[in-house]
Amino acid sequence: MFAVHLLAFHFAKLKEDQIKKVDRYLYHMRLSDDVLLDVMGRFRAEMVKGLGRDTNPTATVKMLPSLVRSLPDGSEKGDFLAVDLGGSQFRALEVKVFNDGKQSSQLESKFYPTPKEVIQGSGAELFSYVADCLSDFMESRNLKHKKLPLGFTFSFPCKQNKLEEGVLLSWTKHFKARGVQGTDVASSLRKALQKHKDIDVDVLAMVNDTVGTMMTCGYDDPRCEVGLIIGTGTNACYMEDMRHIDLVEGDEGRMCINTEWGAFGDDGALDDLRTEFDRELDLGSLNPGKQLFEKMISSLYLGELVRLILLKMTKEGLLFNGKVSAALLTKGKIEMKHVSAMEKYKEGLSNTKEILTELNLFPSEDDCIAVQHVCTIVSFRSANLCAAALAAILTRLRENKKLLRLRTTVGIDGGLYKTHPQGSAKGAAMVTAVAYRLAAQRKQIDAVLAPFLLSLETLRDVKNKMRTELEYGLKRETQDRATVKMLPTYVCGTPDGTENGKYLALDLGGTNFRVLLVKIRSGRRRSVRMYNKIFAIPLEIMQGTGEELFDHIVQCIADFLEYMGIKGARLPLGFTFSFPCRQASIGKGTLVGWTKGFKATDCEGEDVVDMLREAIRRRNEFDLDIVAVVNDTVGTMMTCGYEDPNCEIGLIAGTGSNVCYMEDMKNIEIVEGNEGKMCINTEWGGFGDNGCIDNIRTKYDKEVDEGSLNAGKQRYEKMTSGMYLGEIVRQILIDLTKQGLLFRGQISESLRKRGIFETKFLSQIESFSRILQETVKELAPRCDVTFMLSEDGSGKGAALITAVAKRLHNIGQK
Ligand code: BG6
Ligand code: GLC
Ligand code: GLC
Repeated sequence: MFAVHLLAFHFAKLKEDQIKKVDRYLYHMRLSDDVLLDVMGRFRAEMVKGLGRDTNPTATVKMLPSLVRSLPDGSEKGDFLAVDLGGSQFRALEVKVFNDGKQSSQLESKFYPTPKEVIQGSGAELFSYVADCLSDFMESRNLKHKKLPLGFTFSFPCKQNKLEEGVLLSWTKHFKARGVQGTDVASSLRKALQKHKDIDVDVLAMVNDTVGTMMTCGYDDPRCEVGLIIGTGTNACYMEDMRHIDLVEGDEGRMCINTEWGAFGDDGALDDLRTEFDRELDLGSLNPGKQLFEKMISSLYLGELVRLILLKMTKEGLLFNGKVSAALLTKGKIEMKHVSAMEKYKEGLSNTKEILTELNLFPSEDDCIAVQHVCTIVSFRSANLCAAALAAILTRLRENKKLLRLRTTVGIDGGLYKTHPQGSAKGAAMVTAVAYRLAAQRKQIDAVLAPFLLSLETLRDVKNKMRTELEYGLKRETQDRATVKMLPTYVCGTPDGTENGKYLALDLGGTNFRVLLVKIRSGRRRSVRMYNKIFAIPLEIMQGTGEELFDHIVQCIADFLEYMGIKGARLPLGFTFSFPCRQASIGKGTLVGWTKGFKATDCEGEDVVDMLREAIRRRNEFDLDIVAVVNDTVGTMMTCGYEDPNCEIGLIAGTGSNVCYMEDMKNIEIVEGNEGKMCINTEWGGFGDNGCIDNIRTKYDKEVDEGSLNAGKQRYEKMTSGMYLGEIVRQILIDLTKQGLLFRGQISESLRKRGIFETKFLSQIESFSRILQETVKELAPRCDVTFMLSEDGSGKGAALITAVAKRLHNIGQK
């Protein structure tokens, strides 16, 4: 027994010695955690460089946009062809995708050889070979009579501007066909296919193998957002936020980026890690100086790396008694398959021994132990480097999503890591299927949205109808019938700079309810200073009783006076009340009807100034001098008018939509007098309440109207203002989902909730104001309009109106 133990110990010791020897020899290939973290950091910086517009031209990691923006959603269907060129095996496939709710697909494929003469000959020959193989495949599958879309997996760096085209940037790996670099590969394939008169194939999508892999896995696991290849070459793609991709227009959503990480280090960034063996291998490759990261990782190179190491060790007398064989001296004699066989520890040393013997080396047990360990170190380094770059991608994804922890799926393929037998070509078919589905969906979505696109002719018609309504509203006999009420405001001029004093203002009816203190100075020290506070109005108060509403308002005023420390002062007050009021003077306003989100009882038909006064009386704590009630459009016009005396229109595009403007007195039949002008609050939100614009209302507008507080009323406002736009969008989304065009046909709980899409600050949406201004120019070409954003809200205007009214009142009294 003792002898046996001793023997075992002796062998273990021997083995350990061999391993130590190799470890010492390949010290430089064993990367510590610190080094790997450092590699990860370097790769993260490379990604940023590749994504930036200015830095991309000099970046080695090209970060190529793939134009793939969505993963399969399971609703794809159809019959697709694919070819897969660039990995260790070339093949043609047929993929049938079923939209049966079970995510099922069927795949048939056939492999074809890729002789060196073909992949390193002329480009034309290469593509005609590919076309021949495809034609043969279709023949064998009896597909020649069918017109089929094809997805092309082409595993080389390509610059894509469209999904169906791709310009080869450079050959990598073992390919080097002439005259292809810098040309569109998809179109070359198309040309080659055209020579086959008996088949009809439409090259619809071109994808990198990484992208194909991500799509293949994404079909089964919607969380998949990274595609990784560790095979003949190595590379990865992932879904990047559009806002970070400088090279592609647009900021919304994500796009798959083919990193082409194989080129990492081509600028020397990894020189400190590369060994003499890496350098030697590179010098003997088809593309010296290129794909340096790939050459440390992928299967095309690992065998050769092992050979170079063994050769040097032998020459130094560390292996095989120092005897080199002709085979060991021959480039390419050790391949990846040998490395992985030798590495199989479970099979002991038998594989190693056999392979080394085949190379005419006469290995001792010690040699076998050492060689096996060399293989392990080389593949260990490969896996570690790959992991470092992958970790950089995953960290980026996590940070893009602002998550503390990321749960994601990485689709992997390639000879070195074989888990997904369907390969990346199924993914090319999936990309094609997705493109197909998206095109069909696009069509249907366009049809749904078509009624929203108004032609200039339609808009002119709307303009004319609006003009008619404006005139009806001004005329005594027709104003009853008019939907646009054209309410006189008794505001007859814009501020002239002589206003001064301290005023309170209320601003009720927009997104925010505010109370303001406005201090106006005239003369040389002309200025307006404002202090304001926003108060909430709870829904139950907006839609409770009138008394409750006005008590709440007075409560807020009391808080404000307290807060400003001016409770004792009896200040004049201007009341911006953003609802239609019929006025008999500046200080009186009868509410015609609530609009927007308000519906307090017992207010319609009442004078809101009186209601406010009564509420103040009820509280019996302070007194105020309510001088003016003004619509927000009028307040806005006055605010801007203080800066620009030419201002004669006030427009609100906010929660609601409305306009006021200065009209000649002689045209306002319902007010006495012919001299000068008066501001008219058009209340154009009610335009169309008689059905005159029903032709441009979509079914979504009608749905939104039916679900609103004031069904049938304010139809124009419901097509134009913030309070309703979000609802229209929601109705459209619901409809598109019902039609199966969105969200896999599933209407989520939140989508069912009214009001989930708020549209605050409509006028600040850039495209809104731009389109507004451009369209106005088009429809009113002879009006030269300056659009001035009222930064201070309408409260300032209300105070200015109050100042003027107060002055006139005082003059009157005198
Ligand atoms: C504010 C005005 O700036 O805009 C309010 O002070 C007006 O008087 C409001 O009602 C309109 O926009 P919104 O988005 O608040 O309805
Ligand atoms: C090479 C190619 C790349 C491909 C990878 C894996 O790195 O340049 O496009 O994805 O090999 O096949
Ligand atoms: C509603 C009101 C109107 C107001 C507009 C903008 O249309 O009826 O008075 O001006 O909203 O707030």
